[in-house]
Amino acid sequence: MEPTKRDSFASSFGVLVALAGSAVGLGNLWRFPYLVGQNGGAAFILIYLGFVFLVGLPVLLAEFIIGRRSQASARKAFHKLAPGSWWGITGVLGVICCILIISFYSVVGGWSTEYLYKALCFDFTAGDPQALRTMFDTFSASVWRQLVCHTIFLALTAGVVVAGVQNGIEKFSKVMMPMLFLIIIGIAVRSMTLPGSGPGISYLFKPDWSKVTSQTFLAALGQAFFSLSLGSCMVMTYASYVKKDAHILALGTQTAISDVLFAILAGCAIMPAVFAFGISPGEGPDLVFVTLPHIFSQLPMGGVVAIFFFVALLLAALTSGISILEVIVAFCMEEFKMKRKVAVALTFLLIWVLGCLCIVSSKVFSLFEFLSAECLMLIGGLLVVLFAGWKLGRKGVFEELTNGGDIRLSPRMFEILLFLIRFVAPVALLAIAVFQIHE
Ligand code: TRP
Repeated sequence: MEPTKRDSFASSFGVLVALAGSAVGLGNLWRFPYLVGQNGGAAFILIYLGFVFLVGLPVLLAEFIIGRRSQASARKAFHKLAPGSWWGITGVLGVICCILIISFYSVVGGWSTEYLYKALCFDFTAGDPQALRTMFDTFSASVWRQLVCHTIFLALTAGVVVAGVQNGIEKFSKVMMPMLFLIIIGIAVRSMTLPGSGPGISYLFKPDWSKVTSQTFLAALGQAFFSLSLGSCMVMTYASYVKKDAHILALGTQTAISDVLFAILAGCAIMPAVFAFGISPGEGPDLVFVTLPHIFSQLPMGGVVAIFFFVALLLAALTSGISILEVIVAFCMEEFKMKRKVAVALTFLLIWVLGCLCIVSSKVFSLFEFLSAECLMLIGGLLVVLFAGWKLGRKGVFEELTNGGDIRLSPRMFEILLFLIRFVAPVALLAIAVFQIHE
């Protein structure tokens, strides 16, 4: 029987927006600003940038190389490129990692649906910070409300994934990503032109090295990995839908740059306003759901800004959610020969149940977050660079980066990239692992 034709992206722009869509997510809008706030502003951003380009980009390229070369889902990719080896376990770990991530991600995605709804009802007008905190606490204590929101978010995500790569993921990202960038630029301009925003801007752009500790490095690397969606076979899965003539190096670099740019724009949208209203920047995870609504309530036309902000948050979460779900769906389709619809339905059920566990128990939530973001993604990243750098080796990496010699790549540039993939990224990841076990 002829195997059914694999779905693929239609254009390079489609690949870029889908990858950027995966990268830009709650990690940029919700996690990055509070990490910047807690870790000393610009100093954290600089360390983060270093990690993105010295460790994140090599891992991204390695995943891209494996995915496009194999044209297969997570486990099969390794199976095809190294038949009979144990490398396939990397793919299985990636899928497990994605299952854990989407379970708690969908819960937070649900919070953003709830907050968009509140913004549309102009619920933040109370202005009293205590009332807004109570609002969040009541919501996060209500199992039912969160359950409804988690279900809505997951259904939206599954709705895009079920339509397929070209008709679902690519079409959706092509419209939503440019819109997302426009919204965040608009909010950043509004925030940076507020009276009193100056200290916020210098907090973002003037490094204070005295706040930097070993924890800062851990947080920065973890964030680089989470934000670029690395170490979980996500880039690999998307890359398996990329045509043989696509320029891997260009697409990888553009993805990393879009992600960093968006994170900094999110910082510019949030920090200046936080400072202008005299709030401490190290607010923690509540920043987006408590502090910002307070700011919106004080801002002229804040109600409208709030709507735009929560639309952006929801869109960012959705384009990331679909990428995580796609890894699991592609795995089920190729391993168990399921139809896309069946794979999506089963994945939906599984994630729905695990998400419910995250809602009822904050311990499960933190456990899933810890296991995925702090363990599996780093292990996955390490395995992926080792596989590309040493198993596919110089020849394989060169063939993929140059499309078999069609794309010009200077020998020096190639050596640098290979060195990053073979040595810098693995050593950095091992160092962080040892450090983490030691702590
Ligand atoms: N990068 C996304 C964010 O910043 C989250 C994400 C999407 C992700 N796909 C992933 C994280 C795969 C880990 C693995 O919010």
